[in-house]
Formats: sequence, structure tokens, C-alpha cells
Amino acid sequence: MTTSAASPSRLFVPIYEITAELFISLDGVRLPARRGETVMAVLLRNGAALGRSEFDGRSRAGFCLMGACQDCSLWGEGGGRVRACMTMAEDGMALVTAPPLSET
Ligand code: FES
Repeated sequence: MTTSAASPSRLFVPIYEITAELFISLDGVRLPARRGETVMAVLLRNGAALGRSEFDGRSRAGFCLMGACQDCSLWGEGGGRVRACMTMAEDGMALVTAPPLSET
């Protein structure tokens, strides 16, 4: 699968065509990825938000991109927090934007 780089809603826009080598999902939406990409890179390139601001409801997309701020937290479908900017995408990885009830 090849994805186009011409979407104004994406925060990361690759300068070359992306050929999917694997897929991850966020809240059940399947997203193409390449080996060696972080989860954060995959999400931003595909126009996915990591959640919503608790202050104004706008999309959140991480802050530091280097593992310091925790603003990119996601959860595995079975629980367990994932920092999107520090986690490499793996084929079949299923993530959600809301924490499990046990962590709220
Ligand atoms: S964006 Fe700051 S820890 Fe991931």
C-alpha cells in the first residue's frame, strides 16, 4: 500500500512516497507504517491525534518528541501505557487513546 503525502491535516508530511511495511491501529483505525518508525511518527503522518486537550478539546500531538513530557501517552488494548514518541511501531500493535478504567 502506498500513501499520498498531500493531506493538509497531517502534521508530518513525508517528502517521498510511503510504502507500508506493517500496520498498527489506534482506536480501531488501521494505519500504515514503515519499519523503524516510532508510533508518534506513524500517527502524525496519518493525521491521527493522540487525544484531546482537557482545556479546549483540541487535538493533542505530543510536545517534546523525546520522552520527557509524557504528553504522548497511549495505552495498549490490554492496558499498559505507551509513550508514542519512544516506542517503535510493530506490526499488529493495537493502541487506544483512553486509559483503561483501572488507570483513570
Ligand atoms: S512527546 Fe513528550 S514524552 Fe512523548
